[in-house]
Amino acid sequence: MIENDFIPASYKFEKEEGRVQWKAPSNIALVKYWGKKQNQIPANASVSFTLDNCRTITSVVYTKLDKENKEFSFDLIFEGKNRKDFKPKIETFFERIERYIPFLKNYHFSINTSNTFPHSSGIASSASGMAALSLCLMDIERQMVSEMDPDFFFKKASFLARLGSGSACRSIKGNLVQWGEHNDIMGSTNLYGIPYPYPVNEVFKSYQDTILLVHKGQKSVSSTVGHNLMHGHPFSEKRFEQAHDNLKRLRSIFAEGNLDEFIEVVESEALTLHAMMMTSIPYFILMKPNTLNIIEKIWEFRRASKKHLCFTLDAGANVHLLYPNNEKKEVKKFIKEELVAYCENGQYICDQIGFGAKKM
Ligand code: PMV
Repeated sequence: MIENDFIPASYKFEKEEGRVQWKAPSNIALVKYWGKKQNQIPANASVSFTLDNCRTITSVVYTKLDKENKEFSFDLIFEGKNRKDFKPKIETFFERIERYIPFLKNYHFSINTSNTFPHSSGIASSASGMAALSLCLMDIERQMVSEMDPDFFFKKASFLARLGSGSACRSIKGNLVQWGEHNDIMGSTNLYGIPYPYPVNEVFKSYQDTILLVHKGQKSVSSTVGHNLMHGHPFSEKRFEQAHDNLKRLRSIFAEGNLDEFIEVVESEALTLHAMMMTSIPYFILMKPNTLNIIEKIWEFRRASKKHLCFTLDAGANVHLLYPNNEKKEVKKFIKEELVAYCENGQYICDQIGFGAKKM
Protein backbone atom coordinates (compact mmCIF):
# COMPACT_ATOMS: atom_id res chain seq x y z
CA MET A 1 0.00 0.00 0.00
CA ILE A 2 1.06 3.60 -0.49
CA GLU A 3 0.15 6.74 1.44
CA ASN A 4 -2.54 7.79 -1.04
CA ASP A 5 -4.48 4.56 -0.43
CA PHE A 6 -5.36 6.02 2.97
CA ILE A 7 -7.09 9.08 1.51
CA PRO A 8 -10.82 8.31 1.45
CA ALA A 9 -12.54 8.74 -1.91
CA SER A 10 -15.67 10.29 -0.43
CA TYR A 11 -17.96 9.90 2.52
CA LYS A 12 -21.39 8.48 1.80
CA PHE A 13 -23.06 10.32 4.64
CA GLU A 14 -22.00 12.36 7.58
CA LYS A 15 -23.32 11.44 10.99
CA GLU A 16 -24.62 14.26 13.19
CA GLU A 17 -23.16 12.97 16.42
CA GLY A 18 -21.96 9.90 18.24
CA ARG A 19 -19.51 8.43 20.70
CA VAL A 20 -16.75 5.86 20.31
CA GLN A 21 -14.36 4.39 22.84
CA TRP A 22 -11.19 2.30 22.51
CA LYS A 23 -8.45 1.00 24.76
CA ALA A 24 -4.97 0.59 23.33
CA PRO A 25 -1.89 -0.92 24.96
CA SER A 26 1.64 0.33 25.33
CA ASN A 27 4.45 -1.64 23.70
CA ILE A 28 8.09 -2.36 24.42
CA ALA A 29 10.58 -2.52 21.57
CA LEU A 30 12.99 -5.45 21.35
CA VAL A 31 14.80 -4.00 18.33
CA LYS A 32 14.65 -0.25 18.84
CA TYR A 33 13.48 2.50 16.54
CA TRP A 34 15.85 5.42 17.06
CA GLY A 35 16.35 7.86 14.22
CA LYS A 36 13.76 8.95 11.68
CA LYS A 37 13.26 10.68 8.36
CA GLN A 38 10.50 13.12 7.42
CA ASN A 39 6.88 12.17 8.20
CA GLN A 40 7.80 9.68 10.89
CA ILE A 41 9.51 7.31 8.50
CA PRO A 42 11.87 5.18 10.61
CA ALA A 43 15.58 5.05 9.83
CA ASN A 44 15.48 1.34 10.67
CA ALA A 45 12.88 -1.35 11.17
CA SER A 46 11.89 -2.39 14.71
CA VAL A 47 9.89 -5.06 16.50
CA SER A 48 8.04 -4.95 19.82
CA PHE A 49 6.02 -6.91 22.33
CA THR A 50 2.56 -5.46 22.73
CA LEU A 51 1.76 -5.05 26.43
CA ASP A 52 -1.47 -5.89 28.17
CA ASN A 53 -2.06 -3.98 31.42
CA CYS A 54 -0.43 -0.67 30.51
CA ARG A 55 -3.15 0.92 28.42
CA THR A 56 -4.78 4.18 27.45
CA ILE A 57 -8.57 4.36 27.37
CA THR A 58 -9.95 7.08 25.12
CA SER A 59 -13.48 8.08 24.26
CA VAL A 60 -14.42 10.63 21.62
CA VAL A 61 -17.80 12.33 21.46
CA TYR A 62 -18.26 14.00 18.07
CA THR A 63 -20.81 16.62 17.15
CA LYS A 64 -21.28 18.01 13.66
CA LEU A 65 -20.63 21.72 13.26
CA ASP A 66 -23.03 23.93 11.28
CA LYS A 67 -20.31 24.58 8.75
CA GLU A 68 -16.74 23.52 8.22
CA ASN A 69 -14.46 25.27 10.70
CA LYS A 70 -11.17 26.98 9.88
CA GLU A 71 -9.52 25.54 12.97
CA PHE A 72 -9.77 22.16 14.64
CA SER A 73 -12.45 22.22 17.32
CA PHE A 74 -11.84 19.92 20.29
CA ASP A 75 -11.42 19.75 24.03
CA LEU A 76 -9.31 17.33 25.94
CA ILE A 77 -9.92 15.81 29.34
CA PHE A 78 -7.03 13.78 30.74
CA GLU A 79 -7.70 11.75 33.89
CA GLY A 80 -10.72 13.88 34.77
CA LYS A 81 -9.05 17.26 34.22
CA ASN A 82 -9.34 19.68 31.34
CA ARG A 83 -5.79 19.85 29.97
CA LYS A 84 -5.20 22.82 27.68
CA ASP A 85 -1.45 22.11 27.84
CA PHE A 86 -1.94 18.79 26.00
CA LYS A 87 -3.79 20.45 23.14
CA PRO A 88 -0.81 21.51 20.98
CA LYS A 89 0.25 17.87 20.64
CA ILE A 90 -3.21 16.85 19.41
CA GLU A 91 -3.33 19.92 17.17
CA THR A 92 -0.05 18.84 15.49
CA PHE A 93 -1.39 15.31 15.15
CA PHE A 94 -4.61 16.58 13.53
CA GLU A 95 -2.60 18.71 11.10
CA ARG A 96 -0.56 15.68 10.07
CA ILE A 97 -3.55 13.41 9.55
CA GLU A 98 -6.07 15.87 8.09
CA ARG A 99 -5.23 14.76 4.57
CA TYR A 100 -6.28 11.22 5.47
CA ILE A 101 -9.20 12.10 7.77
CA PRO A 102 -10.89 14.94 5.89
CA PHE A 103 -13.86 15.28 8.28
CA LEU A 104 -11.71 16.68 11.10
CA LYS A 105 -12.85 20.30 10.63
CA ASN A 106 -16.52 19.36 10.27
CA TYR A 107 -16.92 18.21 13.86
CA HIS A 108 -16.29 19.22 17.43
CA PHE A 109 -14.54 16.43 19.35
CA SER A 110 -14.66 15.93 23.11
CA ILE A 111 -11.73 13.68 23.85
CA ASN A 112 -11.63 12.00 27.23
CA THR A 113 -8.56 9.95 27.98
CA SER A 114 -6.89 8.16 30.87
CA ASN A 115 -4.09 5.68 31.46
CA THR A 116 -4.15 2.50 33.52
CA PHE A 117 -0.57 3.15 34.61
CA PRO A 118 0.36 5.90 37.04
CA HIS A 119 0.63 9.40 35.61
CA SER A 120 4.21 10.68 35.34
CA SER A 121 5.61 7.23 36.04
CA GLY A 122 8.16 7.90 33.32
CA ILE A 123 6.34 5.41 31.10
CA ALA A 124 5.62 7.04 27.79
CA SER A 125 1.90 7.22 27.16
CA SER A 126 2.29 8.59 23.65
CA ALA A 127 2.26 5.12 22.03
CA SER A 128 -0.93 3.88 23.70
CA GLY A 129 -2.48 7.38 23.62
CA MET A 130 -1.97 7.99 19.91
CA ALA A 131 -3.08 4.43 19.12
CA ALA A 132 -6.32 4.78 21.11
CA LEU A 133 -7.14 8.17 19.55
CA SER A 134 -6.40 6.88 16.03
CA LEU A 135 -8.72 3.92 16.56
CA CYS A 136 -11.49 6.28 17.73
CA LEU A 137 -11.08 8.39 14.58
CA MET A 138 -11.12 5.29 12.40
CA ASP A 139 -14.27 4.12 14.14
CA ILE A 140 -15.91 7.42 13.26
CA GLU A 141 -14.69 7.17 9.68
CA ARG A 142 -16.03 3.63 9.46
CA GLN A 143 -19.50 5.00 10.19
CA MET A 144 -19.21 7.41 7.29
CA VAL A 145 -18.45 4.90 4.56
CA SER A 146 -20.72 2.10 3.44
CA GLU A 147 -18.20 -0.64 3.99
CA MET A 148 -14.72 -0.94 5.42
CA ASP A 149 -12.53 -4.01 5.34
CA PRO A 150 -11.38 -4.83 8.94
CA ASP A 151 -7.82 -5.30 7.72
CA PHE A 152 -7.84 -1.82 6.18
CA PHE A 153 -9.36 -0.42 9.40
CA PHE A 154 -6.43 -1.61 11.54
CA LYS A 155 -3.77 -0.78 8.94
CA LYS A 156 -5.02 2.77 8.63
CA ALA A 157 -5.33 3.10 12.44
CA SER A 158 -1.67 2.07 12.70
CA PHE A 159 -0.77 4.43 9.84
CA LEU A 160 -2.46 7.37 11.64
CA ALA A 161 -0.94 6.43 15.01
CA ARG A 162 2.51 6.45 13.40
CA LEU A 163 1.96 10.06 12.35
CA GLY A 164 1.21 10.90 16.00
CA SER A 165 4.20 9.09 17.48
CA GLY A 166 6.25 6.56 15.50
CA SER A 167 6.21 3.69 17.98
CA ALA A 168 2.43 4.12 18.44
CA CYS A 169 1.90 2.24 15.17
CA ARG A 170 3.05 -0.88 17.02
CA SER A 171 0.27 -0.47 19.64
CA ILE A 172 -2.73 -1.49 17.55
CA LYS A 173 -2.23 -5.23 17.19
CA GLY A 174 -0.64 -7.96 19.32
CA ASN A 175 1.40 -9.75 20.29
CA LEU A 176 4.59 -9.18 18.39
CA VAL A 177 4.55 -6.27 15.93
CA GLN A 178 7.05 -5.34 13.25
CA TRP A 179 7.33 -1.87 11.77
CA GLY A 180 9.63 -0.61 9.03
CA GLU A 181 10.73 -1.88 5.66
CA HIS A 182 13.01 -4.91 5.84
CA ASN A 183 13.99 -6.97 2.80
CA ASP A 184 13.66 -10.26 4.65
CA ILE A 185 10.33 -9.55 6.34
CA MET A 186 7.32 -10.19 4.17
CA GLY A 187 4.78 -7.37 4.07
CA SER A 188 6.94 -5.03 6.15
CA THR A 189 6.47 -1.33 5.47
CA ASN A 190 7.49 2.06 6.83
CA LEU A 191 3.85 3.14 6.82
CA TYR A 192 2.34 0.97 9.57
CA GLY A 193 3.01 -1.89 11.94
CA ILE A 194 2.20 -5.49 10.97
CA PRO A 195 1.69 -8.56 13.16
CA TYR A 196 5.00 -10.45 13.01
CA PRO A 197 4.53 -12.66 9.92
CA TYR A 198 6.68 -15.70 10.84
CA PRO A 199 6.33 -18.52 13.37
CA VAL A 200 6.68 -17.51 17.00
CA ASN A 201 7.49 -20.11 19.64
CA GLU A 202 4.91 -20.68 22.41
CA VAL A 203 7.36 -19.44 25.04
CA PHE A 204 7.02 -15.88 23.74
CA LYS A 205 3.23 -15.90 23.75
CA SER A 206 3.02 -15.52 27.52
CA TYR A 207 6.19 -13.52 28.08
CA GLN A 208 6.25 -11.30 31.17
CA ASP A 209 7.33 -7.68 31.46
CA THR A 210 7.80 -6.18 34.91
CA ILE A 211 8.57 -2.48 34.70
CA LEU A 212 10.77 -1.16 37.48
CA LEU A 213 10.11 2.53 38.06
CA VAL A 214 13.59 3.83 38.75
CA HIS A 215 12.91 7.46 38.01
CA LYS A 216 9.35 8.70 37.70
CA GLY A 217 9.98 12.26 36.58
CA GLN A 218 9.79 13.68 33.10
CA LYS A 219 12.34 12.31 30.68
CA SER A 220 15.30 14.69 30.26
CA VAL A 221 15.37 14.17 26.48
CA SER A 222 12.15 13.99 24.47
CA SER A 223 12.11 11.29 21.81
CA THR A 224 11.82 14.01 19.14
CA VAL A 225 15.13 15.48 20.26
CA GLY A 226 16.62 11.99 20.57
CA HIS A 227 15.64 10.92 17.06
CA ASN A 228 17.07 14.14 15.65
CA LEU A 229 20.41 13.48 17.30
CA MET A 230 20.82 10.53 14.95
CA HIS A 231 21.18 12.94 12.01
CA GLY A 232 24.92 13.37 11.45
CA HIS A 233 25.65 11.01 14.35
CA PRO A 234 29.10 9.40 13.86
CA PHE A 235 27.75 5.87 14.39
CA SER A 236 24.25 6.13 12.92
CA GLU A 237 24.79 4.18 9.68
CA LYS A 238 26.40 1.26 11.52
CA ARG A 239 23.62 1.36 14.08
CA PHE A 240 20.89 1.15 11.40
CA GLU A 241 22.72 -1.82 9.86
CA GLN A 242 22.95 -3.49 13.24
CA ALA A 243 19.19 -3.14 13.84
CA HIS A 244 18.60 -4.64 10.40
CA ASP A 245 20.86 -7.61 11.23
CA ASN A 246 19.27 -8.11 14.65
CA LEU A 247 15.84 -8.38 13.05
CA LYS A 248 17.18 -10.98 10.67
CA ARG A 249 18.69 -12.88 13.56
CA LEU A 250 15.44 -12.79 15.54
CA ARG A 251 13.54 -14.75 12.91
CA SER A 252 15.01 -18.12 13.95
CA ILE A 253 15.18 -17.06 17.62
CA PHE A 254 11.43 -16.39 17.64
CA ALA A 255 10.71 -19.64 15.83
CA GLU A 256 12.93 -21.86 17.96
CA GLY A 257 12.43 -20.09 21.28
CA ASN A 258 16.17 -19.75 21.75
CA LEU A 259 16.16 -17.67 24.95
CA ASP A 260 19.92 -17.25 25.34
CA GLU A 261 20.19 -15.67 21.93
CA PHE A 262 17.01 -13.66 22.53
CA ILE A 263 18.61 -12.19 25.66
CA GLU A 264 21.77 -11.28 23.78
CA VAL A 265 19.90 -9.39 21.07
CA VAL A 266 17.50 -7.63 23.44
CA GLU A 267 20.08 -6.45 25.98
CA SER A 268 22.47 -5.37 23.24
CA GLU A 269 19.68 -3.35 21.59
CA ALA A 270 18.87 -1.57 24.87
CA LEU A 271 22.49 -0.71 25.59
CA THR A 272 23.06 0.42 22.00
CA LEU A 273 20.12 2.82 22.22
CA HIS A 274 21.71 4.38 25.29
CA ALA A 275 25.16 4.29 23.72
CA MET A 276 23.78 6.34 20.82
CA MET A 277 22.67 9.00 23.26
CA MET A 278 25.96 8.98 25.11
CA THR A 279 27.86 9.51 21.85
CA SER A 280 25.74 12.21 20.22
CA ILE A 281 26.41 15.95 20.39
CA PRO A 282 25.00 17.07 22.76
CA TYR A 283 25.40 13.85 24.75
CA PHE A 284 23.09 12.46 27.42
CA ILE A 285 23.15 9.77 30.06
CA LEU A 286 19.56 8.67 30.52
CA MET A 287 20.28 5.84 32.95
CA LYS A 288 20.40 6.54 36.68
CA PRO A 289 22.78 4.84 39.12
CA ASN A 290 19.95 2.48 40.09
CA THR A 291 19.44 1.48 36.45
CA LEU A 292 23.01 0.15 36.49
CA ASN A 293 22.57 -1.40 39.93
CA ILE A 294 19.58 -3.32 38.60
CA ILE A 295 21.46 -4.46 35.46
CA GLU A 296 24.34 -5.77 37.63
CA LYS A 297 21.86 -7.65 39.83
CA ILE A 298 20.10 -9.18 36.81
CA TRP A 299 23.41 -10.47 35.42
CA GLU A 300 24.35 -11.89 38.81
CA PHE A 301 20.95 -13.59 39.17
CA ARG A 302 21.15 -15.03 35.67
CA ARG A 303 24.60 -16.49 36.26
CA ALA A 304 23.59 -18.04 39.57
CA SER A 305 20.07 -19.26 38.74
CA LYS A 306 20.37 -20.02 34.99
CA LYS A 307 16.94 -18.39 34.61
CA HIS A 308 16.18 -16.40 31.47
CA LEU A 309 15.60 -12.98 32.96
CA CYS A 310 16.82 -10.07 30.86
CA PHE A 311 16.29 -6.33 30.65
CA THR A 312 15.44 -3.74 28.09
CA LEU A 313 15.27 0.04 28.35
CA ASP A 314 13.36 2.85 26.72
CA ALA A 315 14.92 6.26 26.32
CA GLY A 316 14.85 6.72 30.10
CA ALA A 317 15.98 5.24 33.41
CA ASN A 318 13.18 2.70 34.01
CA VAL A 319 13.99 -0.97 33.46
CA HIS A 320 11.73 -3.49 31.72
CA LEU A 321 12.36 -7.01 32.99
CA LEU A 322 11.52 -9.64 30.39
CA TYR A 323 11.15 -13.32 31.29
CA PRO A 324 9.19 -16.43 30.36
CA ASN A 325 5.99 -17.16 32.25
CA ASN A 326 7.25 -20.51 33.55
CA GLU A 327 10.05 -18.73 35.46
CA LYS A 328 7.69 -16.20 37.02
CA LYS A 329 7.80 -17.60 40.55
CA GLU A 330 11.58 -17.38 40.94
CA VAL A 331 11.84 -14.04 39.15
CA LYS A 332 9.05 -12.43 41.21
CA LYS A 333 10.80 -13.55 44.40
CA PHE A 334 14.07 -12.06 43.13
CA ILE A 335 12.34 -8.78 42.24
CA LYS A 336 10.78 -8.48 45.69
CA GLU A 337 13.93 -9.42 47.57
CA GLU A 338 16.59 -7.72 45.50
CA LEU A 339 15.26 -5.16 43.03
CA VAL A 340 12.40 -3.28 44.67
CA ALA A 341 14.93 -1.39 46.78
CA TYR A 342 16.17 0.35 43.61
CA CYS A 343 12.71 1.54 42.54
CA GLU A 344 11.42 5.01 43.35
CA ASN A 345 9.05 4.52 46.31
CA GLY A 346 9.38 0.76 45.71
CA GLN A 347 7.07 1.03 42.70
CA TYR A 348 6.92 -1.40 39.83
CA ILE A 349 4.27 -2.54 37.32
CA CYS A 350 3.55 -6.16 36.40
CA ASP A 351 2.64 -6.62 32.78
CA GLN A 352 2.81 -9.26 30.10
CA ILE A 353 2.53 -9.68 26.38
CA GLY A 354 -0.90 -8.66 25.10
CA PHE A 355 -3.12 -9.08 22.11
CA GLY A 356 -3.77 -5.55 20.94
CA ALA A 357 -6.32 -2.75 21.15
CA LYS A 358 -10.04 -3.32 21.83
CA LYS A 359 -13.25 -1.42 21.23
CA MET A 360 -15.17 -0.71 24.44
O1 PMV B 1 7.65 6.76 19.17
P1 PMV B 1 8.70 7.67 19.68
O2 PMV B 1 9.02 8.78 18.73
O3 PMV B 1 8.37 8.19 21.07
O4 PMV B 1 10.08 6.85 19.82
C1 PMV B 1 10.20 5.73 20.63
C2 PMV B 1 11.60 5.32 20.75
C3 PMV B 1 11.92 4.19 21.72
O5 PMV B 1 10.88 3.96 22.63
C4 PMV B 1 13.17 4.55 22.49
C5 PMV B 1 12.22 2.90 20.93
C6 PMV B 1 11.05 2.20 20.32
O6 PMV B 1 11.24 1.57 19.28
O7 PMV B 1 9.94 2.20 20.91
